[in-house]
Amino acid sequence: MKELSLVKTNNVIEAEKMITYLLNRPLTEMVGLGLIYGQPGLGKSRFARQTAIRNDYIYLRLESTMTAKSFSIQLLQLVQRHFGYPSFMPARGAANDIFRKTVDLLKNQTNIVLVIDEIDYAFKSKKMLGAIRDIVDETLTVVILVGMTDAREKLLQADMHYFDRCNFFCEFKELNTDDIKLVCDEVSSVKVKPEIIRFLQSKTRGNIRKLVKSLYSIENMATNLNITEFGLEHLDKTTVA
Ligand SMILES: Nc1ncnc2c1ncn2[C@@H]1O[C@H](COP(=O)(O)OP(=O)(O)OP(=O)(O)O)[C@@H](O)[C@H]1O
Ligand SMILES: [Mg+2]
Repeated sequence: MKELSLVKTNNVIEAEKMITYLLNRPLTEMVGLGLIYGQPGLGKSRFARQTAIRNDYIYLRLESTMTAKSFSIQLLQLVQRHFGYPSFMPARGAANDIFRKTVDLLKNQTNIVLVIDEIDYAFKSKKMLGAIRDIVDETLTVVILVGMTDAREKLLQADMHYFDRCNFFCEFKELNTDDIKLVCDEVSSVKVKPEIIRFLQSKTRGNIRKLVKSLYSIENMATNLNITEFGLEHLDKTTVA
């Protein structure tokens, strides 16, 4: 199994288009805020992290225990590292002071993309949301928020201004047959027959997390059976994850 791959599913293609659109926006007319949202297991985080690594974007994943202060410290650290500061200078002061340093570093810089995953954890903190909004308003940074299905509505409830400013929404959807075939071709070391693609589509309901798990089971079964092409005849439905 190929690990840490980023198969170009329709979701990935649409999300890439969003970032390109925001990077090429008229800077004086539009802020660079986008939101990726959708059901669990559709590949939002894989897209966010792998795209960030490949394109030198700044990637921050929020955690349930994060406070406004720990958020501001972590963000400053990531931004300093991005600009090549040799080592992190411990930040002192209130969350807001630390945060201003980040905004100062980002000011007047173009083509910076900041991806914030698990944005849902920020909805409980007005300070964190306000800090992210300031980056959007005061710098040219493209900010991509990544969250759960209801992130779009929660954003509106948490802060009306946020919603107004968000000029690109990208909903990750269930994988279609072409997506599933692509994942099977690129991720699995075992070739699967067309009927297995149809089986996987109905079994996983287009959830890529479940699909990758099933492919792992199929690979194991193929190894045990010593075969290189897997079809319905090899399927032991009780053992496909
Ligand atoms: N584009 C992709 N190419 C290959 N594998 C992928 C891709 N996207 C997702 N996966 C696989 O699916 C798993 C789940 O994806 P991911 O964690 O990104 O989902 P998510 O939408 O962020 O889910 P959640 O809402 O639960 O956070 C990944 O760990 C990886 O194994
Ligand atoms: Mg995720």
